Amino acid sequence: MRIADDTIEEVRRASDIVDVISQYLQIRKRGKNYLGLCPFHQEKTPSFNVSPEKQMYHCFGCGVGGNVFTFVMEHEKVSFVEAVRTLARRAGITLPEEGPGGRGESTEHEGLYDACKTAGLYYHDTLLHSVEGKLALEYFRHRGFSDATITKFGLGYSKNVWDGLVSMAAGRKLDILPFEKAGLLLRREDGSCYDRFRGRAMFPIFSPSGRTIGFGARKMREDDPLGKYINSPETPIYLKSRSLYGLAQSKEAIRAQEFAVLVEGYADLITLYQAGVENVVASSGTALTEEQIQLIGRYAKSVTLVYDADSAGSKATIRGVDLIIENGLDVSVAALPEGEDPDSFVKKNGGEEFRRRLAGAVSFLDFKASTFRDQGLLATPEGKTRAVRSIVETIAKMKDEIKRNFYIKHVAETYGVYETLLFRELEAIVGRDRSRAAYQHGGPVPPPPASGGLSLSAVRAGLPPPERDLLKVMLEEGPSMVAFVATHIPPAAFTDPLARRTAELLGKHAAAGGRWDVPAFLDTLDDPSLRTFIADIMFNKYELSRGWTALDDPDPWLIAESCIRRVKAVVLDGLIAENHRQMKSAEQEGADLGPYREAHIRLQSEKKELGRLRLIDSPARK
Ligand code: CTP
Ligand code: MN
Repeated sequence: MRIADDTIEEVRRASDIVDVISQYLQIRKRGKNYLGLCPFHQEKTPSFNVSPEKQMYHCFGCGVGGNVFTFVMEHEKVSFVEAVRTLARRAGITLPEEGPGGRGESTEHEGLYDACKTAGLYYHDTLLHSVEGKLALEYFRHRGFSDATITKFGLGYSKNVWDGLVSMAAGRKLDILPFEKAGLLLRREDGSCYDRFRGRAMFPIFSPSGRTIGFGARKMREDDPLGKYINSPETPIYLKSRSLYGLAQSKEAIRAQEFAVLVEGYADLITLYQAGVENVVASSGTALTEEQIQLIGRYAKSVTLVYDADSAGSKATIRGVDLIIENGLDVSVAALPEGEDPDSFVKKNGGEEFRRRLAGAVSFLDFKASTFRDQGLLATPEGKTRAVRSIVETIAKMKDEIKRNFYIKHVAETYGVYETLLFRELEAIVGRDRSRAAYQHGGPVPPPPASGGLSLSAVRAGLPPPERDLLKVMLEEGPSMVAFVATHIPPAAFTDPLARRTAELLGKHAAAGGRWDVPAFLDTLDDPSLRTFIADIMFNKYELSRGWTALDDPDPWLIAESCIRRVKAVVLDGLIAENHRQMKSAEQEGADLGPYREAHIRLQSEKKELGRLRLIDSPARK
């Protein structure tokens, strides 16, 4: 359930981080902070810091960090809501068990949750206790769903009438507006309402905490003119990009087994779950979103896709793969025979056989490479170039340089491609992505280089110091600084992926208004690695100030100005170098050098301009 923001604030204020953490471990005052042995990794000398001033913690040994809520979440392995409850209990604050939250929005949401819950029970009851429902019940049984499964997933049936749900609501004197807003009823021109779902097998869709938020509805009759599945529309409580079918039932198994199996269909998920593969979620046939991946990432860091070569939906899933990798999760692929989906496969071969397929899953890169090999691409030079480029495109999405190197070597060895070729391609792609992300740039930018370019050390996984300082100054100073930085260095211009995401989220947080509070900002982040990243920045000095020994407490606006210049200079240097390379190869081909010369002059003068700009005179500075 949702706890009102005010209540969360109250619990936060009542839970001093030093008091709370001292209950779990011994910490001793050292300077402004408290220091102790880190509970999240093995160590002999203490490097776990707690700051009463920032109300945050950070371990200089393993890098974890966060606020009082994340400490409890991570130490006790509980959800955010449970952590708030634990701390509320400790502080003697009573939380409402259920019911409306503190904001008007929550009250409206509660109405929609109630409508979905009521509808779900109605459909379920119709399935079990009506004459018409018998047919659907037979259908589910025919699909092999046990009674326990039908109960566990709350399956139901919507009668083939226009006013099933409408009359049920009227009979109980319920307000039908929430039913309409929850997407369950549609309105006619004359103002009356009718059922959206008619004559369909109903699959309730749950939020991760188990509340009904929408429905998937499968056609039962041949003469039903609508699609095989129709689904609830997007509503204030059913945000499709943030929902995953089955997660409410599977999250504990995902956590325990440390990976999630990703399938497409409602029936796939249920059949697998019933066969004992409980760590499964379904994308419900749509392309994966970043938010869905982060949602999985809360429970496990690996995803296994089940791939059926035939289906169009699988292609949508495969497209999501790069996104999974970008978000730092590992992906592997388990293949099924052509034309089989997990549901049909398990029916034919049983759960054990499916588990064997899972055990035989290969990394996504191996999957890609072997597909290319099977297509004969690796046998010709042109094919090889295409294949290598595609494989390296995926590797380039990995944030971790060690991982990237590992995969490059692995692909080189396994598929007989020269390692140097792969590295060169990688450098070219990373260089290209950087220039693209660079701040908006007038005029033609030369096409990406075919090979060669920035050295790998230039694209090391580490965060460039000026980017780090920019994030720090934004975090420390709040909205007007966030806006100032964004006008000069938009989030997309940050080269480091975590930095880019942080800059984006800071922008959103600043735009949302309210008091600027970093621990509260941390609560809006789903991804623990982001929290850790931010804590690390908060607990370390400005990189820049290391060279400025004379200035212990530098003016944040000066820091921002200096860093903006440095980031822009790096971007411009990259573009200049790339333009230069392009010019060289154009020269060899005897092409027209004019555009490159012009670009060179323009870039150089932009770089000169940088030195003259007086950024902090900008009106953003108050
Ligand atoms: N889907 C959808 N709308 C459609 C078709 C499909 O929302 N018109 C989603 C559903 O979540 C569905 C999934 O995509 O479960 C996969 O579609 P498909 O493979 O066509 O269906 P199956 O799940 O195999 O359906 P069934 O086994 O019930 O025939
Ligand atoms: Mn199917």
